[in-house]
Amino acid sequence: MADVVLEHITKNFGSVTAVRDFNLTVHDGEFTVLVGPSGCGKTTTLRIVAGLEEQSSGSVYIGGRKVDDLSPKDRNIAMVFQNYALYPHMNVFDNMAFGLRLRHTPPDEIRRRVNEAAEILGITPFLKRLPRELSGGQRQRVALGRAIVRRPAVFLMDEPLSNLDAKLRTQMRMELLKLYQRLGSTVIYVTHDQVEAMTMGTRIVVMKDGEIQQVAPPQELYDHPANMFVAGFIGSPPMNFLPARLRQDGGRVVAAGDGFQVTLPPEKAALCNAADVVVGVRPEHIVVDDGSVPLSVDGTFEAVVDVVEPLGHEVYLHLAVGGHTVTARVGPAGIRKPGESVRVAFDINAVHAFHPDTGVAYF
Ligand SMILES: Nc1ncnc2c1ncn2[C@@H]1O[C@H](COP(=O)(O)OP(=O)(O)OP(=O)(O)O)[C@@H](O)[C@H]1O
Ligand SMILES: [Mg+2]
Repeated sequence: MADVVLEHITKNFGSVTAVRDFNLTVHDGEFTVLVGPSGCGKTTTLRIVAGLEEQSSGSVYIGGRKVDDLSPKDRNIAMVFQNYALYPHMNVFDNMAFGLRLRHTPPDEIRRRVNEAAEILGITPFLKRLPRELSGGQRQRVALGRAIVRRPAVFLMDEPLSNLDAKLRTQMRMELLKLYQRLGSTVIYVTHDQVEAMTMGTRIVVMKDGEIQQVAPPQELYDHPANMFVAGFIGSPPMNFLPARLRQDGGRVVAAGDGFQVTLPPEKAALCNAADVVVGVRPEHIVVDDGSVPLSVDGTFEAVVDVVEPLGHEVYLHLAVGGHTVTARVGPAGIRKPGESVRVAFDINAVHAFHPDTGVAYF
């Protein structure tokens, strides 16, 4: 059993509250990702679980045991940092063996564990090399190897891939996932990269200013963001936000704003308890008339193409709608020229609405 429970964790650094009333249960074998902008408290939270930082209040439990009074080495965790300083004068084998030697693990056992970890990570041919004789990705694997040989119940990883270039990052992301599937350990993984969070996490914890905004599996976070912060943070290009006012139109409820309107499904409109809302629509839910599917005149409106970004497999159209700019994601056939007028509509089943002051999602 290696579930991790954080109970009402708060951490103050002088007058700065880095983490505020943080409550989370990470289940045994779960890959949980903490994600949020710089300074939101991710590293601090991880360091508190590791025992490298003492919380101001609250408790941490690992495997059902309260660990607040245990030193890092007694918590059965291993941490992989962004700056995984390897010992430059030690070869790969010795770098991986170092922690085990400190713990007086018998030499045979050390050899067995290091060789096994090296095999898993594909670095067996490099065991005799010094860190400077390795590529960035290989060094990263050695850093992971140092954690794996410890056989911890819980892996704590703080942006372990952020030193790598984009291609290597994607590759290591996959390798880390394979490793996780093979080891079945509990992982708490910190990143500020929402793509990393979406692709790796079984559950994602979105943080802002030291507070949890939402905890959910990736798809649920994407489909049902709890507030505008999460809605804008997860997804690229980000969700478009447009202020609107609800009005009754015959038997229907229409959200209308500067230069656009969208009819809301009645059961969703009923969730809004005020006339002013912020409408949220993801780029793929903006339908641009390309002549192939006739848009019903009802619910469409005029937009002017401002900037065009062709990406090969898709195109981002930045459109002027009233006084706003919105981004639409269309297929390669939907490419337009700047200055063109287009008819567009929002997919009524996929729009979101938020409270204009609190940002909390109505739907
Ligand atoms: N030792 C410290 N003393 C004072 N303030 C600190 C200390 N460590 C962190 N903080 C503050 O606590 C807040 C959270 O910091 P933390 O390092 O946890 O953020 P983070 O989410 O990991 O950010 P990043 O993505 O930039 O790594 C920040 O405002 C930071 O300045
Ligand atoms: Mg950090």
